[in-house]
Order: sequence, then structure tokens, then C-alpha cells
Amino acid sequence: MKEKYICLTGLIFIMLLCFCACEKPGTVQPGKIQLGVAYYNQNDTFLSQLNECLKDQLDRLETDNFEVIMTTRDAAGSQRTQDDQVKELIDAGCNVLCVNLADRTDPSEIIDLARENDVPIIFFNREPVAEDMMQWDKLYYVGADAQLSGILQGELAADAIRSDKKTDRNKDGKIQYVVLEGEPGHQDAIIRTESAVNTLKKGGIQLEKLSCGIANWNRSQAQNRMLQMISQHQNQIELVLANNDDMALGAIDAYEKLNYTESALPVFFGIDGTDAGLQAVLDGKMTATVYNDKEGQAQAMAELAAAVVTGKGMEEIEFVNGRYIYLSYYKADKEHADAFVK
Ligand code: GAL
Ligand code: CA
Repeated sequence: MKEKYICLTGLIFIMLLCFCACEKPGTVQPGKIQLGVAYYNQNDTFLSQLNECLKDQLDRLETDNFEVIMTTRDAAGSQRTQDDQVKELIDAGCNVLCVNLADRTDPSEIIDLARENDVPIIFFNREPVAEDMMQWDKLYYVGADAQLSGILQGELAADAIRSDKKTDRNKDGKIQYVVLEGEPGHQDAIIRTESAVNTLKKGGIQLEKLSCGIANWNRSQAQNRMLQMISQHQNQIELVLANNDDMALGAIDAYEKLNYTESALPVFFGIDGTDAGLQAVLDGKMTATVYNDKEGQAQAMAELAAAVVTGKGMEEIEFVNGRYIYLSYYKADKEHADAFVK
């Protein structure tokens, strides 16, 4: 009898052990997503519009028995601040994170924190370098194909130049241009500039680069850079290529401030298709922009967040190299901009 009793307690003990082992995070399907979203800078126009899309997408995931909570943090450009914010988000119980790195070359601290607490990270918009993505197998990236955005911008500019001979205002057979660039070191700045310029050249457009200014994606910085470039090059600038819409709008602001007449203006090209960018295209102030698919990116982030938390639906997601999701870009000239306005 006594032996039987010992045997039974032993069995219960083993069963309990097994049960506890099965309780590891990830294997039990949680009833909620608690998503922490860390932004490098929430004043950034494109990202603030992306954030609205993300809220919409998360609302869609919510059901009576599946709760979705989203908490956002703004690092105001500092990686140190962001590291602390990620720690707070994890301490507050987030079971998945979306991180828009302040410094895309410095994610180690965040990766260590996430790994120690087994909280998967979906990086977005600011792509970590490949070696960092290999630090842990629960790291993902959602973004867009930077090269494509430059190619599309270059094609739009080449078409506009070919179809309107007046673009070459001094009639020297070349297009004198300036570039407004985003943050140095950002994948979307370097690659967009290179591929836009190469595409124009391949399209048979003779180019002469007059100048280049860094304006960190920012409209008022772009206005200042543009005012400097105008004063250096007087009426010579025929084309302004901007790495994003806010900087193209800043360049337009500069010319408006100086009261340039329409016939003396260069042509302007942006990327993003922000609300103000699309409006400027429809108004004929910006020749064209390239639509950065924030709806698609937000949807991919929300679906991936749900999949990593619940363990369901991962097979249906199409990854590049197992971890990356890249959304496409679309041309938005005056004829097509309407289709992107909400
Ligand atoms: C780019 C976007 C810019 C800016 C930047 C921030 O993809 O075109 O406007 O938002 O991301 O990382
Ligand atoms: Ca010219």
C-alpha cells in the first residue's frame, strides 16, 4: 500500500514537472497582444502617418476574446533614450516589440534585453545591418525596397524632363540638379539618391550636379538648405531630387519665400506620398512623388506581431531570407496621386 502511495505521488510529481515545462512562453496561446512600439522620432511626418495605419490594423485584429494593447514611445532621436524605453516596455509586460531604431547601427542593447526576456522584435523602417539581424532568431524586419523608390523617382523625373523641354531652362542640353538628402547613414538616403541619379543617366538624361544638402527628412531644414543652394547657384537649378516629400516641400517653401515666378522654378520630386506631398502633386507644385506603402507596412507589422505572439499564421507570411518583409513602392504623378489620397 505504502509503495503504491509513493509510486502515485511520484507519478503526480512527474506529471506536474511536465506540465510546468510545457508552460514555457510561446507554447501556450496568450489571449492578448501587448505591443510596444518604439519610434526614433514621432515628429517625422511619414512615421506619424504610419502610426495611424498601425492603430487601424491592430483594431482589426481585436476580437471579443483577443485583446490588443499598443503602447508607443518616442526616442526623439536618441538611442540611449530608446534603450531605456524598450526596457520599460518589456518591464510593463509587452510580449512583442516594434522598433524603429534611433541609430540603425546600434541595436545590440535592445536585442540583448529582448532575448533575455524572450520578447520578439519586429524592426521597421530603419533597417539594422545584416550581422545584427543574425544575433537572435526572433528578430524580423518590415520595410520597403529603397532601391526601387530611387528607380521610380528617377523614371518619373526622366519622363517629366523628356516631355517638357522647358525643364532645361538654359538650353544647354543638360539638367542642372541638386539633391536634398535624409540622415547620413540611413539606407533610404544613400540608396535613393544613387538609384535615382543612375536611373536618370540610364534614361539618357545628361546631368550636372550643382550641390547636395543634408536635411534629415525635415521640411524646415530642407528650406534652409535650399535657400543656401539658391543663393550659391542663382537661377541655375533646374531639378530638385529630394529623398522624401517633406524635404521636397521644404525646397518649394524656399522658392515661395523668395517669390519666384512659376517659369523660373525647377521641377521637384519627392518620395513617400504623405498627405501634404500628394496634395502638392495634385496642386502641380511637386511634379511627382513615389508612394511609400505605409498601409502595407502597418498590415505586415500587425500580422507578424500577431503571428509571433500566438504562434499561428507564420507559414502564410512570405519572408525574404527568412526574416525580412519588403513592401513595394508606387509612382504617384499628377494623374495617379488621387488614387493614394485617403
Ligand atoms: C523613410 C521615409 C522618410 C523618413 C524616414 C525615417 O523611409 O521616406 O520620410 O520617415 O524613413 O526613417
Ligand atoms: Ca540646363
